[in-house]
Amino acid sequence: MPTPNVPAHSSERPRPLVVTADPELLDDVLRLAAAGTAEVRVAIDAVAARPMWTSAPFVVLGADAVEGCIRTGLAGRAAVILIAREAGVEPPWHYAEALRAEHVVVLPAAEAWLVDRFADHATGSPGRGRVVAVLGGRGGAGASVLATGLAVTAQRYGYDTLLIDADPLGGGVDLVLGWERMRGLRWPELVDARGRVNPPALVGALPGQGSLAVLSFDRSELDAVPVEAMAAALDAGRRGRDLVVVDLPRRLDGASLVALTAAERAYLVVPAELRACAASRRTASVVAAHCPALGLVVRLPAPGGVDPDEVAAALGLPLAGVLPTDPRLARALETGSPPAGTGRGPLADLCRQLLGDLRPRRHRVVVP
Ligand SMILES: Nc1ncnc2c1ncn2[C@@H]1O[C@H](COP(=O)(O)OP(=O)(O)OP(=O)(O)O)[C@@H](O)[C@H]1O
Ligand SMILES: [Mg+2]
Repeated sequence: MPTPNVPAHSSERPRPLVVTADPELLDDVLRLAAAGTAEVRVAIDAVAARPMWTSAPFVVLGADAVEGCIRTGLAGRAAVILIAREAGVEPPWHYAEALRAEHVVVLPAAEAWLVDRFADHATGSPGRGRVVAVLGGRGGAGASVLATGLAVTAQRYGYDTLLIDADPLGGGVDLVLGWERMRGLRWPELVDARGRVNPPALVGALPGQGSLAVLSFDRSELDAVPVEAMAAALDAGRRGRDLVVVDLPRRLDGASLVALTAAERAYLVVPAELRACAASRRTASVVAAHCPALGLVVRLPAPGGVDPDEVAAALGLPLAGVLPTDPRLARALETGSPPAGTGRGPLADLCRQLLGDLRPRRHRVVVP
């Protein structure tokens, strides 16, 4: 029988489901749920879990119960956190993919993370971090530079910021920062053979300086980030940072769509040229379907005299800003200086303006 550990009259809101028959693991998870002030339901095995499985906001599935859940076909229907104790038996991690586990965590290392996860559920908050995404309407539009400028500007305000590179063919956004030699993990080392990312360790293991961390591709061959890995990275960013900026590829893959869906706002950078407008039209409609708050950034110069408002009208997008070409910026990039790093110039101005446009939230506001 499921054993709810809360009185029957308490809130009707669906509760996270804990599935395990391991008493020590159960003790640990219940203690962490209590620390996060979350009410949970408990099932000792797959049979007991079945009636609650799909309605649970997420399932914390003990390593001991994994095989039973797979056998009874519970896999893939709910957000699953696969959990084990370090001191326990070797968990069947090879089932993580079949379960479509969002996270794979080991206690005690993941204790703080799990408390946060329960607390976010209890308070109805997905985490304090805001997510914005940037992509280009054509190749070389300046999207990666803008994404990096936004992250650097947020850092200059003292905000904990995570810059996520979602473009496997972009050459690594760490290079735009001039951080390509900086130690720390990049996507290829972070994503293991099954696409898992260990969320508690994630941000701390990345290259970073001050309050800015970057999750970048490197110069090796990794075709794509698995969707689960991107979801885990976004989740870690939302929970642990004030701002997450995602540099998207123009050819949107599964991981990019996950990031776009998580973004409260996206910016499409389009050069003020006729052909760039034509090329951007399709991208704009695909992106807007996943992130309705899509704004246009027009990159100047306009060789044919096209006005930024005309570009906006042609694409049917609100004009969020204009980015003039800055020869000093182009030179600075070649010498490894981070864009907007001095806080001066048109890029820094635009980044301040765009960050200021993010509406304040209950927790922290991005721009003072
Ligand atoms: N505001 C700017 N002023 C001057 N040069 C710029 C500016 N933005 C970008 N550039 C130049 O354009 C190049 C391409 O920029 P960036 O990599 O940001 O484009 P992208 O849209 O991300 O391209 P990709 O299609 O490769 O992802 C930069 O290396 C830089 O030389
Ligand atoms: Mg780019």
